[in-house]
Amino acid sequence: MSRIPPRPVIGVLHPGAMGAAVGAALRPAAGSVIWAAAGRSRETSKRAELADLVGVPDVAALARRADVIVSVCPPQAALEVAEEVGAALGTSARRPVYVDANAVAPGTVRRIGDLLGVDDAVDGAIIGPPAWERGRTVLWLSGPAAADVAALFARSPFDARVLGPDLGTASALKACFALQSKALPAIWLEIAEAARGYHVEDALRGELARFGVDYRAAVDAATGKESSAWRWAGEMDEAAATMAALGLPDGFSRAAGELYRRLAEGRLNRTSEP
Ligand SMILES: NC(=O)c1ccc[n+]([C@@H]2O[C@H](COP(=O)([O-])OP(=O)(O)OC[C@H]3O[C@@H](n4cnc5c(N)ncnc54)[C@H](OP(=O)(O)O)[C@@H]3O)[C@@H](O)[C@H]2O)c1
Repeated sequence: MSRIPPRPVIGVLHPGAMGAAVGAALRPAAGSVIWAAAGRSRETSKRAELADLVGVPDVAALARRADVIVSVCPPQAALEVAEEVGAALGTSARRPVYVDANAVAPGTVRRIGDLLGVDDAVDGAIIGPPAWERGRTVLWLSGPAAADVAALFARSPFDARVLGPDLGTASALKACFALQSKALPAIWLEIAEAARGYHVEDALRGELARFGVDYRAAVDAATGKESSAWRWAGEMDEAAATMAALGLPDGFSRAAGELYRRLAEGRLNRTSEP
């Protein structure tokens, strides 16, 4: 039997680019999909309106009404959002299923489980763009109630797949994927900084071209991620914690995190002379 009642009230924290798509995808299965307005920007409010989500004043009001809560926020805010929900629920006997769908370390999801109840928490990891049509985005889920949550996404634009019964498995998958999708490209930010700093950019471009590598295209692709860079810095910090927990070197992800932070804060392109 499902942990989730039929036509549940589902809360989305928060309707960013991904959260709005998740909220819209859940509407057919839900009684209503709600979001919490307090502290959020006009952009979030606009996205919620376009996705036909119902506004409630704040996280506390959302936590009191929701049967299921899906957290889709910047990775660096995931724990704080869960703490806000925990504070709102207090010792209430009514425990919503809490899905953390953020790019965080398995250890972070387990802390969220400790906070909100291991049996009530579900680990989620989204791979692919905000899904408005089927075929491009998978929502991986793990934890005791993962299958119940996956059922809510049946025939939605998100392909929901259960990865196992433990909190942390879905997040581990996402962290491994992120080393390829975000840590690897970040090396181009460092290469460009170093080549500029040592005045060898033209020579490097030529040498890379001899080996079939388009330096400009690779650097432009990395620097073009400026608007997501602050969120990616948090994701790389979480990826580093994921690697460190296994005793693996975490330097790739830490360096990528720092490079994305510098990109977001406009601190690249200013490497000093050696
Ligand atoms: N976008 C993608 O392609 C993609 C792909 C895979 C996974 N994801 C995952 O989805 C999550 C969110 O990404 P997104 O693309 O939706 O980001 P986004 O468009 O930047 O939206 C983030 C949302 O979180 C809110 N927010 C910002 N700062 C916050 C804070 N300190 N505390 C709580 N909420 C905060 C924002 O509200 P305000 O701006 O109104 O404050 C906004 O509603 C991330 O964990 C990411 O890893 C995204």
